[in-house]
Amino acid sequence: MSNSNPSRTPSKQRTANEDRNADFFDGWGEYHDMVGSLDTYANSARALDSELAGRVVDVGSGGVVNYDCAAISELVLVDLSDVKQAGASWPACARPVLGSAVELPLETGGYDCVLMQMVVHHLAERDFATTRERVAQAFREAQRVLRPGGRLVILESVMPGVLEWAERWAFPLTRRILAGMGHPLVFQWRAGTLAKMAGQAGFSEVSITPVPRGRWMIFLGRRMPTMLVPVRFAKIVATKA
Ligand SMILES: C[S@@+](CC[C@H](N)C(=O)[O-])C[C@H]1O[C@@H](n2cnc3c(N)ncnc32)[C@H](O)[C@@H]1O
Repeated sequence: MSNSNPSRTPSKQRTANEDRNADFFDGWGEYHDMVGSLDTYANSARALDSELAGRVVDVGSGGVVNYDCAAISELVLVDLSDVKQAGASWPACARPVLGSAVELPLETGGYDCVLMQMVVHHLAERDFATTRERVAQAFREAQRVLRPGGRLVILESVMPGVLEWAERWAFPLTRRILAGMGHPLVFQWRAGTLAKMAGQAGFSEVSITPVPRGRWMIFLGRRMPTMLVPVRFAKIVATKA
């Protein structure tokens, strides 16, 4: 079902890669089915058990509510474009809001949890320095909207060790290849780098938990056997002091 009336906020111009993301996910009708059926995402949803409670913001939600909502009193689903619900329906406390991770159209200090599930690698733009700054800005935005003691929960596909450096070195080439494939620009981080950046954004008690992969995952828009993909999965939890 398409939700035709998400809250609209006066948004700034979207960046080039935000436009590509919005077009790509708007046109990807099978995304919900793939996330709902592939074992890797069942594992990642399970990793969110007991993490989300109270007033929750799901940044880059894509309309995917695959986690336990029993303890959630309000669920704000932020995305670049109108998100759709498919399969399992949203809880009654859910509402979609148009906006970007780097400029959340939400009040300061009002939320208990910010979830970023499979969105951080999409905050890429132009070159490595710009990409790093956008992730840092998204973490600062999470910090801003959380109440003291609130938690940022990141569920992310990450690169092991040295491959992050290889990706960084290959950034200009990857950008051209992905553009040729019609895929938005992405940059997969090391879990340790994301944890460090969360600390730099002002979070404390930062923990990293590996999340087991299943046999299948999505890679560059395709269903792939995980054994062919170097990407791993991790949950990073950080607290606003
Ligand atoms: C891979 S999907 C993840 C969807 C869902 N969170 C999940 O776990 O399946 C990435 C989502 O992030 C959204 N997105 C990409 N860049 C964004 C940004 N700058 N701000 C907000 N959402 C963004 C995309 O539109 C898309 O819905």
